[in-house]
Amino acid sequence: MSSGMAEKPIEDVDLGDVSLWEQGPPHAVFERLRKEDPVHWSEMAGWEGESGFWSITKAEDVHAISRDWETFSSERGGILAADHSVPIEFQNAMFIGMDPPRHDRIKNLFQRGFTPKRIAAHEDEIRVITTRVLDGLEGRSEFELVTDLAQPVVGRVIGSFLGAPEEDDAMWADFANRGLALGDDELQPEGEGTVLELIQKGVARVIEMAADRRENPTDDLTSLLVHAEVDGERLEDYEIASGFALLVSAGNDSTKATFSSGMLALLREPDQLQRLVEDPSMIPVAVEEFLRMFPAFAHFRRTATRDVEFGGKKIREGDKVIMWYPSSNRDESLHKCPHTMDVERNPDHQAFGAGGRHFCLGTALARLELKILFEETLARFPNLELAGEPSIVRSLFANQPRAIPVRVG
Ligand code: HEM
Repeated sequence: MSSGMAEKPIEDVDLGDVSLWEQGPPHAVFERLRKEDPVHWSEMAGWEGESGFWSITKAEDVHAISRDWETFSSERGGILAADHSVPIEFQNAMFIGMDPPRHDRIKNLFQRGFTPKRIAAHEDEIRVITTRVLDGLEGRSEFELVTDLAQPVVGRVIGSFLGAPEEDDAMWADFANRGLALGDDELQPEGEGTVLELIQKGVARVIEMAADRRENPTDDLTSLLVHAEVDGERLEDYEIASGFALLVSAGNDSTKATFSSGMLALLREPDQLQRLVEDPSMIPVAVEEFLRMFPAFAHFRRTATRDVEFGGKKIREGDKVIMWYPSSNRDESLHKCPHTMDVERNPDHQAFGAGGRHFCLGTALARLELKILFEETLARFPNLELAGEPSIVRSLFANQPRAIPVRVG
């Protein structure tokens, strides 16, 4: 875990430096910041037109910021470190980019779609989707874990949950993958059209679906949303469309990232892989360790609504405040040997956020989906091996492998 950056004077450490993220989160830098400067200013040099940010690296500080929405707003500056990635108007239209009371009103509505009963009702379907994708890989001696397995499963699961037709899965995957690449052209996976054009296309598609469900209701989430009322009011079309976009993005990238990272780690530690193959009942506990070790989203941002002293630093009104989950999840004051993966650890973690108003809506769906993905994959292919060098998405936000070539042993 050595890094040149770890040796620089602490004030010169810039977590906005994309080269630090070539191999995923810079854990050596985070470790140093947790010890020496847990609330740290980074200039974000090299990002044209972007102001710097405060980095929050310790778990207890991430917890405190997450719970104080009045001081640390999700609405005022958006939810990502870079201002010039996803347009702020679009972020503010999604409830992840709102503050109370507007946030709570809309989240409450969406929560009705995520009751334990509704999630459990999807179990069989998730298994059928996973099995179908695995069937398609039968007979191949090599395949690629992210695009051949993880992406088609998570894309269809969230698509069916929302009620989107299968032929739209590729469009929504593109929408999620490119929307979350953080705006840097170099980071954008290939695809057609700008992010803005993609957003417009996606919104138009949801409005079409919503109109259809008003006439022909089904039991999908889109139907639930078009018919739900709060204080006698229905959701506006743009509220449905932006909520849908949020779920498609969160649902596509997150579980895909955790599954791929977890599989990669298991392929590199065959004894832990073997333990799960021999005793699949350990998988739900292992999933918690994968979430801790490899949180799908490296950060979410808040913006200070007032001057405030935090961790001995003077944070000014309007400053960006970034909560780094790969760091808080390896905080040595909470986790022994934090960089060691132990599938039996069963840790508390902050991969889904650290509580407060914005705590992840999809935890139950994500856990169920991950459990089934690992169960079915390890049962079908217990002897997988790495067949080449994996590659990682180079991003301050999306913490995930891009490609993992595997051989069926
Ligand atoms: C491994 C899977 C997942 C991870 C690691 C994850 C992580 C997160 C994190 C870190 C947040 C922000 C918490 C905060 O700001 O305090 C969040 C929010 C959210 N997540 Fe997830 N998520 C996952 C899966 C999902 C899925 C499958 C869905 C839906 C289908 C989903 C929907 C949401 C929504 C709607 C929010 C915004 C909640 C709000 O603003 O009130 N997530 N998630």
